[in-house]
Amino acid sequence: MITDFCGKTAFITGGGSGIGLGMARAFGRAGMNIVVADIDKKAASAAVDQLAAQQVKAAPVYCDVSERGSVREAALEAIAAFGKVHVLCNNAGVAVGGQLGTVGARDWDWILDVNLKGVVHGTETFLPLIKSHSEGGHIISTASMAGMISPPGLEPYSATKFAVVAMSEGWFFQLAPLNIGVSVLCPGFVRTRIHESGRVRQDRYGGEGEVGTGVAADRESAAQQVLSGIDPDIVGERVLEAVKAGELYIFTHPNMKPLAEQRFQMILAAFDRAADSQALKAVKEWAAAPLLGPQG
Ligand SMILES: NC(=O)c1ccc[n+]([C@@H]2O[C@H](COP(=O)([O-])OP(=O)(O)OC[C@H]3O[C@@H](n4cnc5c(N)ncnc54)[C@H](O)[C@@H]3O)[C@@H](O)[C@H]2O)c1
Repeated sequence: MITDFCGKTAFITGGGSGIGLGMARAFGRAGMNIVVADIDKKAASAAVDQLAAQQVKAAPVYCDVSERGSVREAALEAIAAFGKVHVLCNNAGVAVGGQLGTVGARDWDWILDVNLKGVVHGTETFLPLIKSHSEGGHIISTASMAGMISPPGLEPYSATKFAVVAMSEGWFFQLAPLNIGVSVLCPGFVRTRIHESGRVRQDRYGGEGEVGTGVAADRESAAQQVLSGIDPDIVGERVLEAVKAGELYIFTHPNMKPLAEQRFQMILAAFDRAADSQALKAVKEWAAAPLLGPQG
């Protein structure tokens, strides 16, 4: 974990827009150097210009998180610019949804490669670099409330976000002894360009174009949900606050707590049914079985 942010460096994937840019501004205000890593070079440069106008030291780097090699090259550029990286924000993400059977194979590959493997590529690339300077660090991965609950029609997105929550929960305990904090950001709707994710879809996944929206009845109402969300700058400040406090789960929409409660209650009720199950009555092994809990 780090407590003093001033003069340290944050590498933010998807830093050219939305939540990534909100975190860049918040960390920049805290005195950090910012590496804006994005597949959209123009957006990354524009973000760096904005940050520089606020006296934040920042550098743009091209980075496609779906490619391990691209993340590695971007990391080398970050080290060349600022010497060390202390905070990694695995934030780049895209949204794909649709009724079962309507999401194309290439869109499945795209969302898995960016939202899930992108987080693996970022963490596995930066962990040795953060460990090597022994000054501590923090890894923040952007999941979603869709990593806590699964709205029907948004399964490709939710599948990746549940995975990001799961990895972060494990990494939190794995990395604590190394003085590296881990947080997972789970926002509700935030006013960004996520509903226009198709603008940065790589050619190998079908190229630039419209993408299925999932939950909302049509594209316009999906856009409306996002555009009625909260300001990404507020999300950035909330992340900074939570990272300072070493929080694992970072929520930005406390009004959504009942949705998580509903899901957990369904799960707990299913355990109670298992406890009363006739089929399981004969099992004797429970008492001796070790429980593999969150702390191992
Ligand atoms: N906006 C919301 O309501 C909301 C809610 C919960 C979670 N999220 C998550 O927040 C994160 C940021 O999204 P946002 O809402 O700011 O959207 P956004 O579209 O405004 O920003 C996403 C950024 O990621 C970049 N990007 C996309 N693919 C990339 C790739 N392969 N490699 C590197 N960069 C890439 C884009 O160029 C863009 O700059 C995502 O992980 C998203 O799933 C968003």
